[in-house]
Amino acid sequence: MYVLVTGGCGFIGSNFIRFLLERKRKTKVINVDKLTYAGNPANLEDVEKNHPDRYYFIKADISDKKAIRNIFDRHEIDWVINFAAESHVDRSILGPEIFIQVNIFGTFNLLENSRRAWQPENGKESRGKLFLQISTDEVYGTLGESGLFTERSPYDPSSPYSASKAASDHLVNAYFRTYGLPAIITNCSNNYGPYQFPEKLIPLMINNALKGDDLPIYGDGENVRDWIYVEDHCEALLKVLEMGVPGDKYNIGGSCEKKNREVVEVICDQLDRKLGPVGGRPRRSLMKYVADRPGHDRRYAVDSSKIMTELDWSPKVSFDEGIAMTIEWYIDNTEWTESILDGSYMEYYRTQYGERLDGKG
Ligand code: NAD
Ligand code: DAU
Repeated sequence: MYVLVTGGCGFIGSNFIRFLLERKRKTKVINVDKLTYAGNPANLEDVEKNHPDRYYFIKADISDKKAIRNIFDRHEIDWVINFAAESHVDRSILGPEIFIQVNIFGTFNLLENSRRAWQPENGKESRGKLFLQISTDEVYGTLGESGLFTERSPYDPSSPYSASKAASDHLVNAYFRTYGLPAIITNCSNNYGPYQFPEKLIPLMINNALKGDDLPIYGDGENVRDWIYVEDHCEALLKVLEMGVPGDKYNIGGSCEKKNREVVEVICDQLDRKLGPVGGRPRRSLMKYVADRPGHDRRYAVDSSKIMTELDWSPKVSFDEGIAMTIEWYIDNTEWTESILDGSYMEYYRTQYGERLDGKG
C-alpha cells in the first residue's frame, strides 16, 4: 500500500515515517515536503538508507496543483497523512500570510486531489482510503484553571497559526459531509522528542542551557501545556489510521500538564546533574522572564478518553522518561542542532540530490 505523507521532513512527520516503516512492513511511503526552513531531509537519513525500496522523497509544495495531481496520477495512494504546515505560533504572529497559504490552501489542494482520485464516479474505489489531517489542540483556544478539551469543545483559535489550522479542519469536515471523502481529524497537544526544530520551547531551552545562554520565558511562565512524547503521538496516529471512524475526530494528549516554568526548571536541573553547572552557576540562573507572546493561550489540557476507550490507546512515556531521552538525544546530536543554527542543513538536500528531484517528483 502507498501512503502519501506530507511534511515528512519536519519533526513529527520524520518520527512518524520511521515509526510507520518499522511497524507496517508492506507499506511504501511517499514523502512530499517543500523543505521550508523547518524541513530537514537529514532527519530521515537512516530511513533512506534502511528502506530504499519503501521510502520515496519528492520535493514539492502541497499547494502546487500540478505537482500534487501528478503524484495522484502516478500512484494508487491509499492513505494521505497531512503533516505539512507552517507550525510555529511566534512566526504566525510576525508573518501570518504563509500560514494562510500553506495551512488552508495547501490542505484544500490535497483534499481536492484525494476527492478526484478516490470518488467512485471516477471509477475508483474509496474503500480502504483515508485522509488523515494532523491538527492541534490549539484550535480550541484557551482553557481557564479547570476543564479539558473534548472533541465537542467549540473552536476558538487565538493565533493566526491556530486559526489557519482551524480553517483547514473545517475544510476536512466539509469534504467528508459534502463529498463523502473518508477523512479523520486528530487534535494533538504539545509534542516533544528527537528532531524538533530548535525554535520550540523544549529544544530551544535544552540548547541554550547546554551553552549557558539565556532561557527566555514568556510572561510569568505560568502558562500550561499538555506534553506528549512524539512516539506516543505516532502510536495514536497508527491506531486512528487502522481503526478510526471516517468523519470522526480524535483528541490526543499526554495527560501531562506542566507550567512552562516547571518544564524549564526540569531541563536546567537534569543538565546540571548530568554535566555540572555552567560557568560555575546552576542553570536556573539563566531563566529570564521576557515580554509575553501576544494572544498567549493560558492553558491547554486534552481529554483523550475517546481514543483511549474506542481505539485502546494510551500514552506510554512519562514526562520524566521522555524529557530524559530528549535531553540525551540533543546532547548526542549537537551537530544536528549546530547545522540548523549555522544554516548548513540547507545544503544537505543539494549535496545529496542536486536538483535531481526538484519539482519533478
Ligand atoms: P514542523 O514545522 O517541524 O514540520 C513541518 C514540515 O512541513 C516541514 O518539513 C516543512 O518543510 C513542511 N512544509 C511546510 N510547508 C510545506 C508546503 N507548502 N508543502 C510541503 N511541505 C511543507 O512541524 P511539526 O511540529 O512536525 O508539526 C507537524 C504537523 O503537526 C503540523 O500540521 C502541526 O500543525 C501539527 N501539530 C504539531 C504539534 C506539535 O507539538 N509540534 C502538535 C499538534 C499538531
Ligand atoms: O499545542 C500544540 C501546539 O504546540 C502545536 O500545534 C504547534 O505546532 C507547536 O508549535 C506547539 O505550540 P506552542 O505555541 O504551545 O509551542 P511553543 O514551543 O512555541 O511554546 C510552548 C510554550 O512555551 C508556550 O506557552 C510559549 C512558551 N515559550 C515558547 C518559546 C519558544 C516561552 O516561554 N519561551 C520561548 O522562547
